[in-house]
Amino acid sequence: MPHCEFSPLDPSSYSRPDEALVTNIVLSLNVDFNKRAFNGSVKLDITKVNPKAKEIILDVKDLNIVDVTDYFENQKLKYEISDPFADFGSKMTVELPENNKTSYTLLINYSTSPNASGLQWLKPEQTLGKKHPFVFSQFQSIHARSFLPCQDTPGVKTRYTAEVVAPSDLTVLMSALRNGATSLSNNKIQFNFVQNVPVPAYLIAIAIGALKSKQIGPRSHVWAEEDILDAAAYEFEDTEANLKTAEDICGPYVWSIYDLLVLPPSFPYGGMENPCLTFVTPTVIAGDKSLVSVLSHEITHSWSGNLVTNRNFEHFWLNEGFTVFIERKIIGRLLGKQEQDFDAQSGTAELKEEVNHLGANSPYTSLIIDLKGKDPDDAYSKVPYEKGQTFLRYLEFVVGGPEKFEPFLRDYFNTYKYKSIDTDIFKNHFMTYFSSNPEILKVDWQTWLHSPGMPPIIPEYDMTLVEACNDFVKKFLGWNGKTEDAPFTETEFNKYSTLQMIHILQEIMDSTPQSIEKLKATEKILKFADKRNTEIKCRWLRICLKAHWEEKIEDALNFVNEYGRMKYVRPVYRELYAWEASRQRAIDNFVKHQEFYMTVAVNGLRKDLHLQ
Ligand SMILES: *[C@@H]1O[C@H](CO)[C@@H](O)[C@H](O)[C@H]1NC(C)=O
Ligand SMILES: *[C@@H]1O[C@H](CO)[C@@H](O)[C@H](O)[C@H]1NC(C)=O
Ligand SMILES: *[C@@H]1O[C@H](CO)[C@@H](O)[C@H](O)[C@H]1NC(C)=O
Ligand SMILES: *[C@@H]1O[C@H](CO)[C@@H](O)[C@H](O)[C@H]1NC(C)=O
Ligand SMILES: [Zn+2]
Repeated sequence: MPHCEFSPLDPSSYSRPDEALVTNIVLSLNVDFNKRAFNGSVKLDITKVNPKAKEIILDVKDLNIVDVTDYFENQKLKYEISDPFADFGSKMTVELPENNKTSYTLLINYSTSPNASGLQWLKPEQTLGKKHPFVFSQFQSIHARSFLPCQDTPGVKTRYTAEVVAPSDLTVLMSALRNGATSLSNNKIQFNFVQNVPVPAYLIAIAIGALKSKQIGPRSHVWAEEDILDAAAYEFEDTEANLKTAEDICGPYVWSIYDLLVLPPSFPYGGMENPCLTFVTPTVIAGDKSLVSVLSHEITHSWSGNLVTNRNFEHFWLNEGFTVFIERKIIGRLLGKQEQDFDAQSGTAELKEEVNHLGANSPYTSLIIDLKGKDPDDAYSKVPYEKGQTFLRYLEFVVGGPEKFEPFLRDYFNTYKYKSIDTDIFKNHFMTYFSSNPEILKVDWQTWLHSPGMPPIIPEYDMTLVEACNDFVKKFLGWNGKTEDAPFTETEFNKYSTLQMIHILQEIMDSTPQSIEKLKATEKILKFADKRNTEIKCRWLRICLKAHWEEKIEDALNFVNEYGRMKYVRPVYRELYAWEASRQRAIDNFVKHQEFYMTVAVNGLRKDLHLQ
């Protein structure tokens, strides 16, 4: 089995940083939109960790390697690339020169392939402005290897610099500090970048398009296509308040700048915490800041994930559980404890839905998972986020509350900053820090970390906001569906916050299917057809599909053709697949439109539609 060759440190990488380690990355690339490729070179500084090491192992996926040289000796080096295996790409083995040096600089000339799984190439008509092409990256979990030869494991962190040449009417952005741009001949422009904080390969990021920026804080700009720049600047105007609150909880912000980039609608995630430049879906621009918890989330990753990183993706909960837990602390500080706990309960409702979908015995519902031979993208779910945050809320309660736990958090970030760690390291740090507190002996680590299903304990949350929702849900479910008997009015519903409306719909969606008559009456009374908020739209469509309301199939297909965010399109496609009347139409629609989605979404949707 080829996967036996994977690193004992990381089942998702071929690299062996315990033998020879990449310590710095220098990229020099040209972008070619016609060929849909980057072309150029990367310089890798290498250090032998084992003095006897004779080779360095890199991860590559669909890359065309031109040659490899010892940069200072100007000597060509032999290398070998294995056959690709599953979604992992290939193992690239470079023979190190036979001398007594312990460090080297390799120069690798290469180009990417048009099907690079970490890049999405958009034609001008797929952008808002419709005049210029666009390319963006999404390298988490294991797609950096489709952009550059690297040790594509979060256990390896390096600084990087880059120079990227693009057509002069476009802007290049990366997950780094912008370091000037120079106009070249032939209508080209070179952009320079430097990332001085060590980052794992999955946090290298790039986007190129017709982008404009607007300053939204002392250390922040928002970048977007011109048509949505003002809306984005409004939606994210609380960025500095979020950053300051996060620093108050976690410690100093080390990345100098915090910018946001609004991607085209096909971006597969809500946000991606690329350092210095969070990538964010346009679906969070709701017009009323109702969905900007994504902002608190991505800002928090500046500590959990980007500063202290999971050693491999089996411990992904260290990145995401901590982030959700702290994101809600930020919401608590800015909006109040009720909002913080309401968010946690909405998260629990979504976790329940996820556990039901995966199956309560699914190994992917454990906090620590086994990824041997498994693509981390297949294991991706809400579990590390919500079960992880629940565990941390529980630990906080056990040690005596935030006054006790938050100093520990700062100590944890300060101790492991710039490093990659696993759950044992966290656990030992926790046990040592709180060693004089007898309460910690109550914690059943084995069950929390290794048992599948819902969390063993759900902490007591403030119920005020959720109870108000439950009142509505109860009335709704008990209603016979006749318009004249409707137990609520539009005015009454509109008193709820957007997040409460979303929670109400989540609860209705998770109960038994409603009658079409009731849904038709509801849509009229509450004017759901006018709602633009994608969280509301997505849930409403799913409620209608579960009820087998035929006219809604068309709306659902239009919805999945408009957005590439997996959180929306995967469940909607699953609903369409589950119902015989819409199954074939869903498959035909997907086959026709799949170029719109990024590889990670295509792979997921193929599973949802049973196309493999
Ligand atoms: C890479 O760029 C060089 C210089 O522009 C060009 O000669 C070469 O053909 C390109 N290679 C690929 C694979 O695109
Ligand atoms: C490496 O060092 C050893 C011991 O110092 C020496 O015998 C050997 O000749 C050196 N080899 C090379 C290639 O320089
Ligand atoms: C390899 O890359 C270097 C640095 O970018 C460049 O100077 C050199 O011409 C390239 N060699 C080939 C064969 O493309
Ligand atoms: C991607 O393109 C390369 C050639 O550049 C090819 O070898 C590989 O099979 C392609 N991969 C997929 C998944 O289509
Ligand atoms: Zn996250």
